[in-house]
Amino acid sequence: MPQNIEQIENIMCAAPVIPVLIVDNPKHAVPMAEALVRGGLPAIEITLRTGHALEAIDAVNEHVEGAIVGAGTVLNAEQYDAAVSAGARFIVSPGATEALLDAADEHSVPLLPGAATASEVMRLMERGYSRLKFFPAEQAGGAAYLKSLSSPLSAAKFCPTGGVGLANASDYLSLPNVLCVGGSWIADPQAIAGEDWPGIEARAKAAAGLVKT
Ligand code: 3PG
Repeated sequence: MPQNIEQIENIMCAAPVIPVLIVDNPKHAVPMAEALVRGGLPAIEITLRTGHALEAIDAVNEHVEGAIVGAGTVLNAEQYDAAVSAGARFIVSPGATEALLDAADEHSVPLLPGAATASEVMRLMERGYSRLKFFPAEQAGGAAYLKSLSSPLSAAKFCPTGGVGLANASDYLSLPNVLCVGGSWIADPQAIAGEDWPGIEARAKAAAGLVKT
């Protein structure tokens, strides 16, 4: 089944940045998401990298008005099913496998799959996917590399993630094949563990003020 472009683009274009989050303590999920939404970043990605990620997704989905909570680091069909059951409104993966794409076909909750090379993008386009995560962005070649994909693979539009921060986000947001960026700099694990909600809100505001050009 081809990707529902409108559905995933609505999420990607909700703000210039999707915060990528590692939540160790489920009690932190709601105040963290509230700070992000107050700062102007409604679409947030809670990664399945901790034992409490699904609980965190459920709590944000239930209690944080205005949040569009997604699940990140979804690697297989079992995790896809679990994330959807927990209330995830979108699914992000660092790469893509046929099994994961088959799982996405079973759900109306959309997938944003990762790709880092022309061949990976082409394979995803063969499966009907043209809205992709470019991962790991800086390590794979950065904005210059991604720009070089924009002419031959002009139908593909990306959310670069990995090594992206306030200082280099605009390099990506100025590219014709970028819709938004993702990153952990707004709410990194230390800020979440330290319950630095004002700091998270301030960084979210700065990120929300970035302009897609
Ligand atoms: C991701 O999961 O998308 C990345 O690990 C986030 O990368 P960052 O921590 O460099 O922002």
